[in-house]
Amino acid sequence: MVAKTALVTGGAGFLGSHICYSLLEDGWRIVVADNMSTGKASNLPNNIDIENIDICSSKISELIKSCKPDSIFHAAAQISVPTSTRQPVLDAQVNINATIKILDAFRQNGNPSKSFLFLSTGGGIYGQVDELPASEDVKPQPLAPYGISKFAAEIYVQYFRKAHGLKTSIVRPSNIYGPRQNPDSEAGVIAIFIKSMLEKKKVNIFGDGDDQRDYIYVSDVVKGCLLAEKHALNQPLNLGTGLSTSVNDLFQTISKLCNSNLQPNYCDRRPGDVINITLDSSAGKRLLGWDIKINLEEGLRKTVESFKNDKIKK
Ligand SMILES: NC(=O)c1ccc[n+]([C@@H]2O[C@H](COP(=O)([O-])OP(=O)(O)OC[C@H]3O[C@@H](n4cnc5c(N)ncnc54)[C@H](O)[C@@H]3O)[C@@H](O)[C@H]2O)c1
Repeated sequence: MVAKTALVTGGAGFLGSHICYSLLEDGWRIVVADNMSTGKASNLPNNIDIENIDICSSKISELIKSCKPDSIFHAAAQISVPTSTRQPVLDAQVNINATIKILDAFRQNGNPSKSFLFLSTGGGIYGQVDELPASEDVKPQPLAPYGISKFAAEIYVQYFRKAHGLKTSIVRPSNIYGPRQNPDSEAGVIAIFIKSMLEKKKVNIFGDGDDQRDYIYVSDVVKGCLLAEKHALNQPLNLGTGLSTSVNDLFQTISKLCNSNLQPNYCDRRPGDVINITLDSSAGKRLLGWDIKINLEEGLRKTVESFKNDKIKK
């Protein structure tokens, strides 16, 4: 049997690289498109074709034309809420315009039964919700350009499904964490905490630390993505645990795992950050047969171990 080809945009990044490993295990041929702004070749095995391409350039359309993917897993994005508030035009160029460019090139090329999976956001799309956990029935009212651009891109994905018959799927993960998450950006609090504690550097907490988030281990999100791609349902699906953890509790747990006794440095809240968000993922569980396998304690242990091992290798 001929292997199916997946184009994974942002495949050299955190989530994208985990998607690539899973697809490889399932026998796919993989092409990665990544501008390596935060992604790294070392996140991927040697046998993967990595094209150093910016998705905002016309090179992405040329790549889709030449590699004719069966499926696109679209993970490349401007992922930082603070950057989106400072540079909303850049955020929209990457998260909206480039997504349209990819969808348009894909509808014109590639296998007729092609499928497109879009990585949206569950943490940033709903805004401040009165009743948590938030299900997909909650009307998105994003507080920052990041959530707005993801929501706009979702609507384009749905348009391409209706107008051009693309098999599309949209997932809205909560706060993802795990090995290979970039600790040097403004997103990904767990990676940032672990790196700072292992290097004995001060950790900033924005606000009073009582903010509640829904932290989900990366392998559970990957499983949800692959199931969503397979079922190609005509509705966005949350991928979260439904459990809330405060930033202060997270800080304490990670401190213990890293043997750190540093105190946090409390700073002003950042514009655009949601205060509390957790996701109701019962639709994904019912419709995809998806479930959570790794709880927070186990996931944090695995993540701290991987960061310690990476530090030893350096
Ligand atoms: N990490 C989370 O908590 C989380 C939660 C919900 C949704 N998501 C979504 O998941 C996806 C992956 O996020 P991540 O956490 O793995 O981030 P990441 O920064 O590790 O990965 C993004 C990848 O995209 C690449 N990239 C960025 N801009 C690009 C451009 N213009 N052209 C080509 N490549 C570009 C980066 O180099 C990187 O490899 C994003 O779409 C993000 O919005 C992430």
